[in-house]
Amino acid sequence: MIKTMRTALFLFASTVVLNTGVVAAAGDKARGETIATQGNGAGALACVTCHGPKGKGNSAAGFPDIAGLHAGYFGKQLHDYTSGARKNPIMQPFASALSESDIQAVAAYYQSLASPVSAVLQKTPDPDNQGEWLAIRGDWGNDIPACNQCHGPNGMGVGNSFPALSGQHASYLKAQLIAWRTGSRNNDPNQLMKGIAERLSEQQISAITEYYATLPEQLSVQAKAKESR
Ligand code: HEC
Ligand code: HEC
Repeated sequence: MIKTMRTALFLFASTVVLNTGVVAAAGDKARGETIATQGNGAGALACVTCHGPKGKGNSAAGFPDIAGLHAGYFGKQLHDYTSGARKNPIMQPFASALSESDIQAVAAYYQSLASPVSAVLQKTPDPDNQGEWLAIRGDWGNDIPACNQCHGPNGMGVGNSFPALSGQHASYLKAQLIAWRTGSRNNDPNQLMKGIAERLSEQQISAITEYYATLPEQLSVQAKAKESR
């Protein structure tokens, strides 16, 4: 009896440990890949149809780059589409058609597609480069903090809460800022992003989204220049 209880407690404890672990570890990556390439057979279309074979999306169509997104952020977005906290007529039906274990599986799979991030190059922002200045310094005259304060150095993303912006398509980034303004995306903790999106000028939105979209290229050019020095 005591032995059974101990076993039960042990099993309970290990489940708790697993559940509090990184979401990526909980999802079955191989199953995630099957859903991504073939759909789940229950209403969710193959993700690759729009997000591309490597998850890189499509700028012209407004399909975001989802490769390497943190599993926790990824799963949250799918739940938010289902609940309507984030309204999108394309993603809502697919998100709703995924079971909880499907969500964990695709999230783990896409997190594993992260492109290797080159060493973070420290850069003093150029005051004439509006996007770079906003990312690194912000615009305190208008109560806009530096984006990288939350989104990490070079907008690489931080953990489950702050998605990567670097390398994301400008058209998609812009659409999200507008979505917070209009209220169709209403899923940010403490409305952190809504306030920022409302204070950014149109010109600042163009500058910052263009900056992040082209940042990986800029960084690799800088890295090469450094190597050849
Ligand atoms: C018919 C095209 C289409 C298909 C198929 C599709 N998506 Fe999407 N996905 C989109 C669009 C468009 C958006 C951006 C919507 C918005 O603006 O909120 C998006 C956004 C997302 C986001 C949010 C990304 C972010 O940075 O916040 C995630 C996560 C996502 N999709 C996952 C999936 C998964 C998983 C599948 C497969 C089960 C899938 N998508 C299938 C078109 C599609
Ligand atoms: C105080 C912290 C904070 C700051 C500063 C911040 N963000 Fe965010 N941002 C967030 C959080 C949190 C999310 C994710 C919200 C969610 O869960 O959907 C986010 C998400 C985003 C997204 C959506 C990405 C995607 O994949 O859908 C964009 C675009 C974005 N931020 C742009 C910016 C820009 C541009 C700036 C600087 C002008 C900025 N953020 C500054 C906290 C911040």
